[in-house]
Amino acid sequence: MEIRKILIVDDEEFVRYSFKKLFKDPGYQISEAANGLEALSQIKSVEPDLVLMDIEMPGLSGLETIQRVKAAHPMLPVIIMTAYGTTERVIAAMKYGAFEYLEKPFDVARLKTTILEALETKRFSDEENRVDILPADTHSGEQIIGSSSAIKEVYKMIGKVAASDVSVLITGESGTGKELMAKAIHRYSDRSDKPFIAINCAAIPDSLLESELFGFEKGAFTDASHSKEGKFEIADKGTLFLDEVADMSLTLQAKLLRVLQEGTFERIGSNKTVKVSVRVISATNKNLEAAIASKQFREDLYYRLKVVNLTLPPLRVHPEDIPQLTNYFLSRYCREMKIPMVSVPPETMEQLQRNTWPGNVRELENLLKRALLLNKNNVITPDLVTVAQRTLPQSDQIISSHPFASMIPENLTAYEGRLFKFVIDQVEKELIEKALAHTRGNQVKASKLLGISRAMLVERIEKYDLRNSIAE
Ligand SMILES: Nc1ncnc2c1ncn2[C@@H]1O[C@H](COP(=O)(O)OP(=O)(O)OP(=O)(O)O)[C@@H](O)[C@H]1O
Ligand SMILES: [Mg+2]
Repeated sequence: MEIRKILIVDDEEFVRYSFKKLFKDPGYQISEAANGLEALSQIKSVEPDLVLMDIEMPGLSGLETIQRVKAAHPMLPVIIMTAYGTTERVIAAMKYGAFEYLEKPFDVARLKTTILEALETKRFSDEENRVDILPADTHSGEQIIGSSSAIKEVYKMIGKVAASDVSVLITGESGTGKELMAKAIHRYSDRSDKPFIAINCAAIPDSLLESELFGFEKGAFTDASHSKEGKFEIADKGTLFLDEVADMSLTLQAKLLRVLQEGTFERIGSNKTVKVSVRVISATNKNLEAAIASKQFREDLYYRLKVVNLTLPPLRVHPEDIPQLTNYFLSRYCREMKIPMVSVPPETMEQLQRNTWPGNVRELENLLKRALLLNKNNVITPDLVTVAQRTLPQSDQIISSHPFASMIPENLTAYEGRLFKFVIDQVEKELIEKALAHTRGNQVKASKLLGISRAMLVERIEKYDLRNSIAE
């Protein structure tokens, strides 16, 4: 039988004694320390799997001790015990890497589950089970990750089409990397030192899209107080990426067709013809053939856009790329969030590879971000992935996971949805800022005030970059 070693650190002998009684089980070996310094030397000699530590001790304080312990043993879980009402120190302890904090007097059932959970993360971070995340080379910005044959086909296609000026239509499910590939085609083309301009045809109302694409002259409409060049002019000699091209109106489709055929157009309110050299890459996750059949998309435009068609594989057909992608995202986000590198045990990788990923790479990326925020002790356990998944939107429909989702009217267009989310985010950010100011940065009190869980508050603090508002 595997024996798990627990070190109890508390200046009160009675507390240590109670723990020894509670864990009187041949599966556990309990050692004890009466203060911080003793704890440090015990950790050296006993090599415990878990430390339970009081935060208020004479001499070296619990906070100083935990900093030293985590510096020397980042993977050793430390559970902090506190008297009621010492929340400020709790926040600091969690920041220094405590696994969890428990308030005295203890709820024995909760204590036991927390201890089992901590021992489980320790098992996953032990040498023989551990797979470290390697620092990814992220200086070159967004990279395309993957070495499966499915992704290699994509690389080959990019290489083949990059040099020529042909129009490329990128298709594939949501989150498969269409925008990423469009940028890659531009980067490998002769136009790479000229602009890459992206425009999302679904996010902008039709009338606005027209002036965005083609520009306008002063006085073209009531509020046109100056003239403005459109994306086609800005992208001259470069690449224009028309994202979600299926959502363009038929009128605009006709105008677009003309630019593709002749390379010319007029700004709105002008009869001067402008000539440009623009390489057009377009993308959609909709079925354009079906849109043509229902007369929502022009067939002639379709053939102009898809001189070459690049179809991106859904993630479920190349699960062999998941470890590499996981490694890349975790390494990137650990660095960006300035948190220690995490490790991912093989069990977690297997679980990730078994998933069907309806939201593809974006869903994997979001799940990992969330798991990082929720992680305790720098290890991404399978359980953590399950928890992160439960709270994750299935695709890019962030709105549906929003706490105010039930208030969102149905049948919004994509643009209205985004606008709605934008407004909600503003309100939410302000509320959280106010709550934190009111509680002087105390997250425990602020989450109670807002009626949301602490985990959700932590996530929102990250999202809205409110770290400056929280107490140290
Ligand atoms: N092969 C890959 N390597 C690294 N990152 C990737 C890869 N594929 C996708 N991503 C990342 O996944 C996320 C989604 O990709 P992207 O926005 O390009 O998807 P999309 O196909 O345009 O999705 P949608 O149809 O929903 O707009 C981005 O953060 C992108 O960087
Ligand atoms: Mg996209």
